[in-house]
Amino acid sequence: MNHANQLEQIVYLNGHFIPMVDSKISTQDRGFLFGDGVYEVIPVYDSKLFRFKEHLQRLKNSLNAVSIQNPLSDSEWLTLLNTLIEKHPWKDQYIYLQVTRGIQIQRDHLPAEGLTPTVYAYTNPLKPVAPHILESGIKVITLEDIRWLKCDIKAITLLPNVMMKLAAKAQGADDAILVSREGLITEGTASNAFMVKEGTIFTPPNSNKLLPGITRQVIERIANAHGIPLIEQDITEAMLNEADEIWLSSSTKEALPVTMLNGNPVGTGKPSAVWQNINRFYHQYKQECLQTK
Ligand code: PDD
Repeated sequence: MNHANQLEQIVYLNGHFIPMVDSKISTQDRGFLFGDGVYEVIPVYDSKLFRFKEHLQRLKNSLNAVSIQNPLSDSEWLTLLNTLIEKHPWKDQYIYLQVTRGIQIQRDHLPAEGLTPTVYAYTNPLKPVAPHILESGIKVITLEDIRWLKCDIKAITLLPNVMMKLAAKAQGADDAILVSREGLITEGTASNAFMVKEGTIFTPPNSNKLLPGITRQVIERIANAHGIPLIEQDITEAMLNEADEIWLSSSTKEALPVTMLNGNPVGTGKPSAVWQNINRFYHQYKQECLQTK
């Protein structure tokens, strides 16, 4: 399956595996009208789900937080995702899955009782970040975090993230690191944030201001296992400006080095030693996970 015929991809919609071209959602779906839903993005390596339990738990937390009933059991989720993976030729994929509150004819902010959630999932080839990007790192700017106070929920309502990404692009940057109204770093527009100072890794603690990233969790585990100091601590913009290294992390980009911040080089201006170690250990860890399955 190449790019040209991606529309021949098979998607999962409400109990059925169907060609993407045939997948249709009602205009009255509350996901469409209200952004009333939650989602997950799960990486797949060598046709195997990576950190499935953790992603499923976060999905359940998101559903619970917005009072949408989990429509499937754990084993039904697993079967759904594995079936979707099998239907596509790519070894490495990333699955997008979304659950909305469902269809409601009469528009009302208050959800009607007994709605049937809409469940949608599809998969894409997962390409590693290009080597030249890992060699040079990316450029980011800091922006005021204009989102709501429930950023720990993986909600489909991503308009502020889209606007901040556009603002970053307009300023010639690849992405933005977000600063809360209290002057603290929260995360990236679709990633968690890390900085390194004198060999110690810092990342903001989990809170309602950021998503508890699964990649972030893996990085913490790796740092602990290899004796690299990592502290969850509030990070001010002033601290970020003095960082030796900055990285972003997500399921699709893994640990991504940031080498320019607001037009100034970060540390040496090149991806540096701590990131290189973490990146190497991350890949080793992925291999270990594949072998134990
Ligand atoms: N986003 N913070 C935000 C706001 C995110 O959207 C993401 C991931 C993360 C990192 O989480 P994880 O390591 O579990 O992927 C943090 C996904 C990839 C997306 O929206 O496409």
